[in-house]
Amino acid sequence: MADKIAKLRIDDSEYDLPVMSPTQGPDVLDIRKLYGQADVFTFDPGFTSTASCESKITYIDGDKGELWYRGYPIEQLAAKSHYLEVCYLLLYGELPTQQQMEDFETRVTRHTMVHEQMHNFFRGFRRDAHPMATLVGVIGAMSAFYHDSTDVNDPWQREVAAIRLIAKVPTIAAMAYKYSIGQPFVYPRNDLDYASNFLHMCFSVPAEKYEVDPALARAMDRIFTLHADHEQNASTSTVRLAGSSGANPFACIAAGIACLWGPAHGGANQACLEMLREIGTVDRIPEYIAKAKDKSDPFKLMGFGHRVYKNFDPRAKVMKESADEVLDLLGIKDNPTLQVAKELEKIALEDPYFIEKKLYPNVDFYSGIILEAMGFPTSMFTPIFALSRTVGWIAQWKEMIGDPQNKIGRPRQLYVGNDKRDYKDVAAR
Ligand code: ACO
Repeated sequence: MADKIAKLRIDDSEYDLPVMSPTQGPDVLDIRKLYGQADVFTFDPGFTSTASCESKITYIDGDKGELWYRGYPIEQLAAKSHYLEVCYLLLYGELPTQQQMEDFETRVTRHTMVHEQMHNFFRGFRRDAHPMATLVGVIGAMSAFYHDSTDVNDPWQREVAAIRLIAKVPTIAAMAYKYSIGQPFVYPRNDLDYASNFLHMCFSVPAEKYEVDPALARAMDRIFTLHADHEQNASTSTVRLAGSSGANPFACIAAGIACLWGPAHGGANQACLEMLREIGTVDRIPEYIAKAKDKSDPFKLMGFGHRVYKNFDPRAKVMKESADEVLDLLGIKDNPTLQVAKELEKIALEDPYFIEKKLYPNVDFYSGIILEAMGFPTSMFTPIFALSRTVGWIAQWKEMIGDPQNKIGRPRQLYVGNDKRDYKDVAAR
């Protein structure tokens, strides 16, 4: 029962809309019965005022610049936790005990290898394919390799699919990278932690010994943690919508990866670094700032702005610190891309256009700088985001499947097309 009721008046009729109160955040009007009662739809392209589900996983306060996973602030998790612990928290709702953590780590590491036949599957792709293109295809193909975890009505299969995805996506992302540069695939090493293993699979070659730098592994782990979930963003909503029809989890995550690829979403990290390179030198920044402000020019400053954060992106704050640490560690000081990034950040933060529109650097602005310093090509930035977000997608998908209110997602539309008309034979057109 809702505590409050909102009234909606249309002509002479009045309708009661129950007001739902969340643990945090603004109240939510329950319009589920509105169409049945009043024969009207609501119109909200981009879902700027619409909650599509109930969720207990992640909370964002865009005005205060806050992000919590299961109630824990992201800053605390980034400083004190590690990615696999965050995965456990997102999936099961609580921080694990020592024993629970060990069991979870064992389960994940035992699933890091992929079916050997997948190697052949990879070979069907062109070498110059973007790793995101390969990732979408191979993750989708997981449902062809792991039939025994595709029954969404079986809780055990859902659990196995979740573990398989978290364990295998890094292996597949690293394989996509190795394939694109013509190097042999590197098998996972289960004696390494999650982030170190990913670096090992990306950067080691059979001909040489490779030692993972623990400081770089920590920075990698932090990138994973900061991207792990972000409530009902475009890709997560895509996963939920795909899953609402009962599609298997591998197909749903492939759908999420496809959505993430766009430059307005996860593709922004690649687009941002490419933009910084295109700007090239500090003296060209004003030209690009002017382009970003020009309404007749579609150009946007990549890595700036966010649908929800209108104060600052708390992930960007942590990521900026991490970027400074990594660059320090690697002794990178006068990199031209970095100089452009620093100056652009400064100028944009002081510019009235960006201040008025509340456009701040987002997480993608800094993550690209770290990933480039680590040696990743820009084409790997979005696959790394996808890898990190897989746990969020799967936690949200599991929550949806277990939700008794779950229905197939099916938005309505405001039809503005032609009225009914009669078919004309071609001679009469
Ligand atoms: N550069 C210049 N102007 C911008 C930018 C930008 N990066 N972002 C928004 N604006 C302007 C818009 O033109 C608009 O101006 P107007 O009010 O005069 O029409 C105003 O700011 C509001 O922007 P919207 O596009 O309406 O905001 P929305 O919430 O729809 O979009 C988004 C948010 C997609 C992130 C947008 O800011 C953007 O495209 N940024 C660049 C891409 C990017 O960095 N994406 C990463 C997002 S974070 C993530 O996915 C992890």
